[in-house]
Amino acid sequence: MPESPYPGVVVDGGGRLILGGCYATDLARHFGTPLYVVDEGVLRSRCRAYAGAFAAGFPQSRVAYAAKAFLTADMCRLVEAEGLWLDVNSAGEIAMALSAGFPPARMLFHGNNKTPAEVRLAIESRVARIIVDSLWELELVARLAAQAGRTAHILLRLAPGVRADTHAYVQTGLADGKFGLAIAGKNGTCAAEVAAAMAIASPHLRFYGVHVHVGSQLLDLRPLREAARRAVRFAASISERCGWRLEELDLGGGLGSPYTSETPPAITALAAALARVVKAECRAAGIPLPAVLVEPGRSIVAEAGTTLYTVGGTKVTPHGPAFLSVNGGMGDNPRVALYGARYRVVVADRVTAPPARAYHVVGRYCESGDAIAFDCPLPQVRAGDILAVFATGAYHHAMASTYNLVPRPAIVVVDNGWARLSVRRESLDDLLRREVGPGEAQAVCLGPAGAHAGAVAAEVAATGEEETSSLVH
Ligand code: LLP
Repeated sequence: MPESPYPGVVVDGGGRLILGGCYATDLARHFGTPLYVVDEGVLRSRCRAYAGAFAAGFPQSRVAYAAKAFLTADMCRLVEAEGLWLDVNSAGEIAMALSAGFPPARMLFHGNNKTPAEVRLAIESRVARIIVDSLWELELVARLAAQAGRTAHILLRLAPGVRADTHAYVQTGLADGKFGLAIAGKNGTCAAEVAAAMAIASPHLRFYGVHVHVGSQLLDLRPLREAARRAVRFAASISERCGWRLEELDLGGGLGSPYTSETPPAITALAAALARVVKAECRAAGIPLPAVLVEPGRSIVAEAGTTLYTVGGTKVTPHGPAFLSVNGGMGDNPRVALYGARYRVVVADRVTAPPARAYHVVGRYCESGDAIAFDCPLPQVRAGDILAVFATGAYHHAMASTYNLVPRPAIVVVDNGWARLSVRRESLDDLLRREVGPGEAQAVCLGPAGAHAGAVAAEVAATGEEETSSLVH
């Protein structure tokens, strides 16, 4: 692939892979493998593409990068410097953002089961908006805001009843899914209407608008347009009935990325399509155009990331495929096992060499489902070769685990030929740090064993029987 389809990825005349101006094999040698390599130039250009496209489409817009796709302190600083907002999903993500100096006044807080402690943290740190997901959460937020003597600034997440063509695990706009307040149902049975009425009436809530997010890795704009249409219509009906004004319309994230042969719509096409439908719907309903928010995650970071692995060896099976084992796998990339994701793989110093055979590239974890890519045409591969897997920036580091107690990879940021460590490789000490040694913690009696022992002993005494219960000591 001399002319790479991935931004920031170049192959030199000798077939050597260059990421953000750095030789992939040198990155592997210097920082070790497995290694997540993130191209800062690509991240910045995606942030700017989003900000520019939405500023062109709407008089008022805010792009909130969805932290769940990839979050590090460096990423927070980059998003902050690019002027974007941040969509956070847990106390952990809030803490990471705050520790990196990200202003809470530009954070949106999501989640379908935020804990009271998380809601309190969001209120106390004055996160810009809490996106309320359910009726019970609405009550919780109102109660905790009242206790804190504050007003919580909220959006309501709607379940627009839109099915997006993507993996079932990442469809999030269904009427009967776990997310959001259904807009279906009439006469007091429509959860979103009930919530809107409560939000308008509550002295502890400031209700700015509504949110929809229909799914992830979307390659078609239709479900996004349909969800926007339904959100505006719902908001217009509330405006008409309650005299409330829609100030903010959050249209979520979801734009897909090209992993192998997918061709997602351009960011400019997304913004233009949403602008057309929102403007038309607002005009038809006779309501003023709200500020529009979007929450892209994957389409900002996926293509900025490449993972480097070292080959351990190959195995040719008698009647089946040839396997090529690398020193990572489902611990650093669970997406293949979870969603059947597909990736493109090359040998970092022989990208243009003619393929010798097709390999299943598999990981080092103790499961047959631990794979990186299937049927990859690759040149003759030797132990110690460096393999590069493209478009691994989104939901890889963020979803990595320490399964088999394999430490998680380091993250290196590359830019114009320079590489710097951004997140340290997890060490064996890191893995052992949380263990509590013998005698370090005192046991607490919380179970029924003590009471039960007493009861059995009393029974034994009453009946004169020999004590037999193993619970009695
Ligand atoms: N906003 C909300 C409320 C979300 O739930 C999500 C993603 C986003 C924005 C960002 O969506 P994006 O632009 O990244 O598609 N782990 C899965 C993806 C889960 C997406 C969860 N929500 C994967 O690896 O494919």
